[in-house]
Amino acid sequence: MLFKSLSWLYLWPVFASQSTGTTALQSRDGEPSVLNCADPASTLHLSDPPYENFFYSDCHSAGQVVVTSPAPDSNLTIIGPRLLVAWPAGNSGIVSFFEPENGLNGTLGISLANFSSVQQPLQGIYEEGRSPNPYVGISGLLQLNGSALLSVAILGSIRNIRDFTEGPSILEPLIQNATAFSVDDSGVALIQRTWFDNETETRLSFAAAGDVDSRPEIGNQTVRFAAGTYVFNASFNYPQLEQLSSQEVLNPVARDLISQNPDETASLSFLSYKDKLLAGAWRFLTYFGRDSMISALLLQPILSEGEGSAIEAVIEAVLERINRTDGTVAHEETIGDHATYLSIQNNETSTAPQYDYKMVDTEYFLPVLMKNYFLDAETGRQRSEAFFSTQASINPDNEGLAYADLALVTAERIMNTSAPFASDRGQVKGNLIRLKEDQVVGEWRDSTYGIGGGRIPYDVNVALVPAALRAIQALSAVGLFPTHPEWEKTAGSFAQTWEDNTLQFFKVTVPADEARDLVDAYVSESGFSGPSESDGIVSDVVYHGLALDGNYNRSIVKVMNSDDCFRLFFLNTTDQTQLSHFLNQTAAHVLQPFPVGLSTSVGILVANPAYGGDPVYTANFTNNSYHGTVVWGWQLAMLAKGLERQLGRCDGESNPGFCADPSIYDHVREAYNHLWDILEANRAALGSEVWSWVYDGGYKLTPLGALPPPPGSNPTESNIRQLWSLTFLAVTRNEAFR
Ligand SMILES: *[C@@H]1O[C@H](CO)[C@@H](O)[C@H](O)[C@H]1NC(C)=O
Ligand SMILES: *[C@@H]1O[C@H](CO)[C@@H](O)[C@H](O)[C@H]1NC(C)=O
Ligand SMILES: *[C@@H]1O[C@H](CO)[C@@H](O)[C@H](O)[C@H]1NC(C)=O
Ligand SMILES: *[C@@H]1O[C@H](CO)[C@@H](O)[C@H](O)[C@H]1NC(C)=O
Ligand SMILES: *[C@@H]1O[C@H](CO)[C@@H](O)[C@H](O)[C@H]1NC(C)=O
Ligand SMILES: *[C@@H]1O[C@H](CO)[C@@H](O)[C@H](O)[C@H]1NC(C)=O
Ligand SMILES: *[C@@H]1O[C@H](CO)[C@@H](O)[C@H](O)[C@H]1NC(C)=O
Ligand SMILES: *[C@@H]1O[C@H](CO)[C@@H](O)[C@H](O)[C@H]1NC(C)=O
Ligand SMILES: *[C@@H]1O[C@H](CO)[C@@H](O)[C@H](O)[C@H]1NC(C)=O
Ligand SMILES: *[C@@H]1O[C@H](CO)[C@@H](O)[C@H](O)[C@H]1NC(C)=O
Ligand SMILES: *[C@@H]1O[C@H](CO)[C@@H](O)[C@H](O)[C@H]1NC(C)=O
Ligand SMILES: *[C@@H]1O[C@H](CO)[C@@H](O)[C@H](O)[C@H]1NC(C)=O
Repeated sequence: MLFKSLSWLYLWPVFASQSTGTTALQSRDGEPSVLNCADPASTLHLSDPPYENFFYSDCHSAGQVVVTSPAPDSNLTIIGPRLLVAWPAGNSGIVSFFEPENGLNGTLGISLANFSSVQQPLQGIYEEGRSPNPYVGISGLLQLNGSALLSVAILGSIRNIRDFTEGPSILEPLIQNATAFSVDDSGVALIQRTWFDNETETRLSFAAAGDVDSRPEIGNQTVRFAAGTYVFNASFNYPQLEQLSSQEVLNPVARDLISQNPDETASLSFLSYKDKLLAGAWRFLTYFGRDSMISALLLQPILSEGEGSAIEAVIEAVLERINRTDGTVAHEETIGDHATYLSIQNNETSTAPQYDYKMVDTEYFLPVLMKNYFLDAETGRQRSEAFFSTQASINPDNEGLAYADLALVTAERIMNTSAPFASDRGQVKGNLIRLKEDQVVGEWRDSTYGIGGGRIPYDVNVALVPAALRAIQALSAVGLFPTHPEWEKTAGSFAQTWEDNTLQFFKVTVPADEARDLVDAYVSESGFSGPSESDGIVSDVVYHGLALDGNYNRSIVKVMNSDDCFRLFFLNTTDQTQLSHFLNQTAAHVLQPFPVGLSTSVGILVANPAYGGDPVYTANFTNNSYHGTVVWGWQLAMLAKGLERQLGRCDGESNPGFCADPSIYDHVREAYNHLWDILEANRAALGSEVWSWVYDGGYKLTPLGALPPPPGSNPTESNIRQLWSLTFLAVTRNEAFR
């Protein structure tokens, strides 16, 4: 479309652009107040059609803008024009949906234009003096290629926005009714809402830019726009987080990565703050325990260390949020407007954060991370005393406790819950770790059918429990748990029992003939249009099921999966026969093409239901389900690092038995290289959370959110940047194994 010059913007005081990128809003009752940043703003544009992602951070605030516009091949029921703004502070945001005024879906396209003064699509907003906290946010130029109606706007919490976009699209009247639409004398349309705290305000305004003469018009909770370009200002006045710059997130020797991988390092910085790392942009822009710890474990070689560092931010964030009564580590936090909203639902009035303790896996990552830093790293050893004597200050419930006290309650929980299985003749299914009674999820595959309705998850029992026990053993040995000197011995013996006696519960052996039939049947039943590859099955197929005690009384959830990566990464097991078989099977799954194995040209799939012989699994594990036949970036990183660690054991020191058997060692090495070939071919996708494919003469990588969702569920949009998918900054190909 024709796009008139926007150089007039230089003249408008509202957009007196600073060289740093920070802009001052003209306050209603006074002069603009500009506070420049010493460092230039950091910006990033990531395209993931039909989603365009823009990131902006300066010394005042950080924010993300996602512009969605239907592409010619978009499913118009799912993809419509949408402008979304997300802020880490308070996990806050704004979403606004647009419709073509002519009513024909697909005819309205929206996009961001650059400010001609800075050749950037976004500028920062910073305005002091109107409230105790300054208003901060983002300004941009929105282009509408036809006349449009802003039909729905949700202002406040990202959690509330997700409930709308991922849930049944129900608007909360308490929030929507409090959202006011107005237009002022100069033609600026304003949508604003005061949060449930009665203090914070979120504002979204639109003003016609140079190429439109008509002003936006306000309707009944709607705004009408003529085709053209509009300046939008999205801002709020909530206390901001202190961001870690790219330099501050990385340790000094890793800082070359900033010029080598500007996109990933800028993304890592966007997700990193002094007191926590955030899980993903935009949907998970806050604390998540599992995500931050897995990320730190994989990123440790490049993360900054010491007081105020990235690795301490992760450990501190986890300890602060532990349930002091039973030691459970928090999965997710609810903060900002949504926390107040939930308390109102409970007939209370509180703005205090709330924590979700439903996961059973998260506590096990903590001792491992503490051991890797406070024991194995020189800086960590020196920091240990000062760190553990720090008093908790974030969760009001943990007031009066030091980090050492919080670490201890979690270690006690792990010791107590793992003891029955480790006891004499205690190695029975009933003593394995189960999901909590009232929960359908409990580990990373946390969607309703993620582990096929199973109650006893594979990853937790065969890898995470013993890994945590080994770490507690090591931490006890240096006196971290002075009230439990016995743990140095007991944790070690518990670990041995868990390492050696858990795999068998999950083992599935499928004779070759049956395996071929199952794969062929799966191909016809699932409608997979690629080759069955079943000719490649020449021996029994052995794998470990996703979980025990599945739906419909299935004793094992017979779904081949990539969770072997946990054992490879977290444990150096010593039962040689078991280890040899395990490594050889894992290598086979990585090498064999789906649906025989897990390999595709777009990545290793996290699940393959072909051997389940069960229509329920075929229906539940699909290429459009969140934990179905899809690819998760961090699983690839953990698999790569895990295979590398196991191969690394053949360095002449410990040399487990498989090192001397070329049929296994070479097989594992081949799997490692096959995986890296795939990773190198899919570089551009690796930073995102999860992705999928369509098969059309070959695999074509597709965003998960662009596929129609499974029946009964809403589309799951993937995050363009996920903390744990950035781990490829630290996980790189080991050329010694090529
Ligand atoms: C048109 O778009 C809206 C909003 O995106 C959607 O709810 C509706 O189902 C779409 N209509 C058709 C016919 O696809
Ligand atoms: C506006 O954008 C939509 C979506 O990209 C496109 O289908 C439509 O043809 C465009 N309209 C005009 C007038 O360019
Ligand atoms: C905005 O400017 C950048 C350079 O800063 C350029 O790469 C990009 O294509 C421009 N975008 C548009 C929509 O013109
Ligand atoms: C919201 O506004 C509608 C329409 O004015 C009204 O019917 C409804 O009761 C209001 N809801 C709340 C929770 O105030
Ligand atoms: C906000 O104000 C309302 C109405 O005065 C009051 O009922 C509510 O308790 C206040 N909320 C908070 C968090 O103080
Ligand atoms: C405004 O829109 C709401 C929801 O679409 C509707 O319930 C209400 O009746 C409308 N109010 C007016 C005055 O048209
Ligand atoms: C913390 O754990 C105790 C004991 O399991 C439980 O009763 C309590 O509800 C938990 N706290 C929260 C905030 O969930
Ligand atoms: C809150 O109060 C309402 C009205 O008194 C009541 O119906 C509702 O059950 C209460 N909710 C909770 C969670 O206590
Ligand atoms: C390991 O797997 C390879 C390839 O499937 C097979 O040829 C070899 O016999 C296996 N080795 C052992 C010891 O099972
Ligand atoms: C997934 O499995 C459950 C039973 O475990 C079934 O009720 C549900 O319909 C399945 N989902 C799909 C999309 O088939
Ligand atoms: C296992 O051994 C490898 C190779 O020596 C090493 O890199 C890795 O850290 C070890 N893992 C554990 C959990 O000790
Ligand atoms: C578009 O999405 C809707 C809703 O998920 C789905 O019912 C429909 O089958 C999809 N259409 C196509 C062509 O995939």
